[in-house]
Amino acid sequence: MQEKNVIQLAKSLLFDKALVKLNGEYVGAVAAISRVAQNAHDLNYNEIFIRDNIPVMIYLLLEGKFEIVRHFLDTCLKLQSTQFQTQGIFPTSFVEIEGKLVADYGQRAIGRVQSIDASLWWVILAYIYVHRSGDRLWAGSLEVQTGIQRFLNLILHPSFRDSPTLFVPDGAFMIDRPLDVWGSPLEIQVLLYGALLSAVGLIQIDLIDKGHLDPESKVLNTHPKSEFATHQIYQSSYAIAWLIRLKRFMLKHYWVNSKIIQTLRRRPTEEYGDRVANEYNIQTESIPHWLQDWLGDQGGYLVGNIRTGRPDFRFFTLGNCLGAIFDVISPTQQRSLFRLMHQNQVSLFAQMPLRICHPPLESDEWRKKTGYDRKNLPWCYHNGGHWPCLFWFFAIATLRHNQQYFHSEADEQVMNTLLHNNYELMLQRLPEQKWAEYFDGPNGVWIGQQARVYQTWTIVGLLLTHHFLKVNTNDANIMSLPKLKELSLF
Ligand code: GLC
Repeated sequence: MQEKNVIQLAKSLLFDKALVKLNGEYVGAVAAISRVAQNAHDLNYNEIFIRDNIPVMIYLLLEGKFEIVRHFLDTCLKLQSTQFQTQGIFPTSFVEIEGKLVADYGQRAIGRVQSIDASLWWVILAYIYVHRSGDRLWAGSLEVQTGIQRFLNLILHPSFRDSPTLFVPDGAFMIDRPLDVWGSPLEIQVLLYGALLSAVGLIQIDLIDKGHLDPESKVLNTHPKSEFATHQIYQSSYAIAWLIRLKRFMLKHYWVNSKIIQTLRRRPTEEYGDRVANEYNIQTESIPHWLQDWLGDQGGYLVGNIRTGRPDFRFFTLGNCLGAIFDVISPTQQRSLFRLMHQNQVSLFAQMPLRICHPPLESDEWRKKTGYDRKNLPWCYHNGGHWPCLFWFFAIATLRHNQQYFHSEADEQVMNTLLHNNYELMLQRLPEQKWAEYFDGPNGVWIGQQARVYQTWTIVGLLLTHHFLKVNTNDANIMSLPKLKELSLF
């Protein structure tokens, strides 16, 4: 099929089949387009997932369809929990049943997992929407600002730990089954960083528009303020302080390259007190040998998880790409990350970009850490499978980097070739393989054993990649969030 026809087909699948209406208005897209009448046996793939709708909404913003995105955000906001124990969280997914929206906050999910990423994504999407559409009125509405307050109350509260990371149970994000991703998994921390930046950005828009904050000097005026505005200012400054600590923490504990690993391997253990070299008491034996080849002499990446005694050195693709897109890592570190991904392309891109994490858990580790999960067998699904919906994040990370920071011509050439070759591969394989959700095996040739077909984020992932590579490369900055340095410190 020719490129133009594939893109046309993908667009019609999105607009005519995936997006659904309630009371005459679009409320979002289903996770997979069903081929079964009424979706009777399709688990929850007929539901509207917040995380699966992020690419959909970003694509709609690029197409100028702002009202659909606003309505989606408003719909999710109405579903933000007001229950005592879960106040402020957004649902994983929702669905229309007999004219009413029924939401899943984890109480209906397989294994009762909670998707913490949904709440983080909502705030990020809200910021991206306002930035792209210029709809400051929406940002400053009481509903939106109250939603942000509820969200921040969830994060900025006393707890037993004095650490800027968010501690979560297993399966709290896109990887929503046990895969030893409990504690402080990378994707959650990077999303937390993006969500706090976005929340502060949205609060400051409101403070400026209500005349409390000077847009030029970013200084607060001295007029008396309502209780609401006083709380906004309090939360905003608390969030900025949190952001500074979180970034410092991630760069210190998650970022590794060959030099750092060599230092880590020679650290003492069993240290007590304030000034120690090995805060998390990590034994050298838990640093795996495959890192030697994986890192080479120029590669670097953010490790999967930092926990007492049990770090996770697996490479998680989405967390790393978002780390670059949200500027958690510096421009130089971004270049090391792209080099690492390029140099390991046989593992990460292979026959279907991109592998979700590397390497897979095998044998006893698979048995113990996944609880014999048959969907997450080694090299399958979340456990080392290949997910085409991830590729556009890599595209946006590298293209945005090229535009904003210095990149040598040789590096840029290498990245462009990688992007275009993989785009061509997807263009050819995805329609042939019915836009499958994921692919299995060490090179991603096989369609996933339990994969849904006509998966919405697979379809939209290709549309987004096409947009950034062929329609407008400058749009690769669509996910740029406020810069930490530029946010006011009250
Ligand atoms: C699976 C995936 C999850 C996704 C959902 C809907 O549960 O693991 O990431 O959101 O399907 O597509």
